Amino acid sequence: MGTSVTVSLDVRRCCCDMSNLDSSASQACAGCGLGREMVEVLPGCRTKRDMDRNEGRVQLFDDWAEHYDASTEKDEGFPFGGYARVLDVVMEAAEPEPGMDVLDLGIGTGKLAARFAALGCNVWGIDFSAEMLARARERLERAVLVRADLLGKWPPELACRFERIVSAYVLHEFELSEKVTLLRRLSEQHLAAGGRIVIGDVTFPTVAARELARRRWETLWDEEEYYWAADVAAEALMSVGLRVNYEQISSCAGVFVIEPAEGA
Ligand SMILES: C[S@@+](CC[C@H](N)C(=O)[O-])C[C@H]1O[C@@H](n2cnc3c(N)ncnc32)[C@H](O)[C@@H]1O
Repeated sequence: MGTSVTVSLDVRRCCCDMSNLDSSASQACAGCGLGREMVEVLPGCRTKRDMDRNEGRVQLFDDWAEHYDASTEKDEGFPFGGYARVLDVVMEAAEPEPGMDVLDLGIGTGKLAARFAALGCNVWGIDFSAEMLARARERLERAVLVRADLLGKWPPELACRFERIVSAYVLHEFELSEKVTLLRRLSEQHLAAGGRIVIGDVTFPTVAARELARRRWETLWDEEEYYWAADVAAEALMSVGLRVNYEQISSCAGVFVIEPAEGA
């Protein structure tokens, strides 16, 4: 792999791709009506509601970055119960080999990605939090780190195919339809032949189990997040031509292994 690069967003071009913005201007884009400041935060066309939510989420993760690793080290209760084991199982399922190209979605402070790098993999990471990426850079000298929204326009720096696409504790940010759209697009456009996607996250085996968990952890449950129910998620993923294997790891976490179905 080449030298390390940290890529920042191109704020001169609007997310909608319809209009170039003068970098000194603060007017709305003629194409989609969004302001330049918004474009810096979110390089993809999404609804105003999503944009407002996203701005808040970026701030939340920026603020959390300094203490994030300590939060995960508790490794018990909700939502991080089983965190270390989830990372172990993601590694086991990914079966990394030296020289493999690995993309980490929502790389955060780089804890998962660092395990791949230590085994000699070439690591790419995407995250919309500059503060999280700054921590990841401390762990990952040679990785390609890209600041962008996973649901936005796909960054050109990642316009290639990876042998493994991995993620931990990120996709619960997205509604099921968004998860499916993202995973399908990644599988079709960014997974190398014979590659696989491995996702560890806050997940429950069924919708009923998720409902029980919501009551159990009522005070910790974030109603703005979309924790997985593996039964409906697997069905939705299979309906778009993906093969899914799921393992429950702790009372609130599990790991999905996702591959293109044969013939899909
Ligand atoms: C809970 S942290 C997980 C970090 C890391 N993967 C780990 O296992 O420790 C979630 C990460 O996903 C990133 N993230 C959340 N939503 C995102 C989005 N829409 N686009 C890009 N990154 C996102 C956050 O900035 C944060 O770094």
